[in-house]
Amino acid sequence: MKKIGLFYNFNTNKTSRIANKIKEVFEQQGKYEIIPVNVDENLTEEQFMQFDHMLLGAATWMDGELPYYWDEFVPAMEDLDMKGKNIAIFGLGNQVNGTENFQDAMGLLGFLLEKRGAKLFGLTSTDGYTFEKSFGVKDNKFIGLSIDLENQAGLSNERIEAWVKQLIEEDF
Ligand SMILES: Cc1cc2nc3c(=O)[nH]c(=O)nc-3n(C[C@H](O)[C@H](O)[C@H](O)COP(=O)(O)O)c2cc1C
Repeated sequence: MKKIGLFYNFNTNKTSRIANKIKEVFEQQGKYEIIPVNVDENLTEEQFMQFDHMLLGAATWMDGELPYYWDEFVPAMEDLDMKGKNIAIFGLGNQVNGTENFQDAMGLLGFLLEKRGAKLFGLTSTDGYTFEKSFGVKDNKFIGLSIDLENQAGLSNERIEAWVKQLIEEDF
C-alpha cells in the first residue's frame, strides 16, 4: 500500500468535504492508504515531512490569501528541504466573488514548495472556469485541482474523480 499524507484543516466544512471525497476515491483503488493530518497551529515539521507523497488542501481567503492555519506554517516551510517530495494541491475558491484572486492559495503553497525542491503533480486545465486573475495558474494550467463549491458544486465529484485518475497515471 502506498502511503499518502492528506493535509488540511479538520475544522473546515468545505475543505474537509473535498478532502474526504478525495480520500474515498483514492481508497476505492485498493492500493493507497490515505492518512489525514490536521493542519493547525500544532502542525510540526516532523509531521509534515513524514510522507513522500502529499495531498495539500487549501481554500483561498480574503483577497488571495492563505488560510491562517497554512499561513502560520509558511516560515517553517521556507526552510524545508522538499527534494524527493511529491505534492498535489487541491484548492477551493470562488471564481465569481474572488475573480481577481481565484485559487491564489494554490500558488502560494505550490510555488513555495516547488522552490524548496518539491515536485508538483496533478496540474489541470483552466477550461470551464471563468475568472480574471489567479496566482494558482502557470502556463495556462492550475497547479493542482481547482474546486469552486459556490458556483460549480455540481462539477466537483467528476473533477475529483478525473484528478485522482490523473494522479495515478502520473505515478504520483
Ligand atoms: C471572506 C472570504 C474571502 C474569500 N476570498 C477568496 C479569494 O480571494 N479568492 C478565491 O478564489 N476564493 C475566495 N473565497 C472563497 C473560498 O475560498 C471558498 O468559499 C471556500 O470554499 C472556503 O472553504 P473553507 O470554508 O473550507 O475555508 C473567499 C471566501 C470568503 C468567505
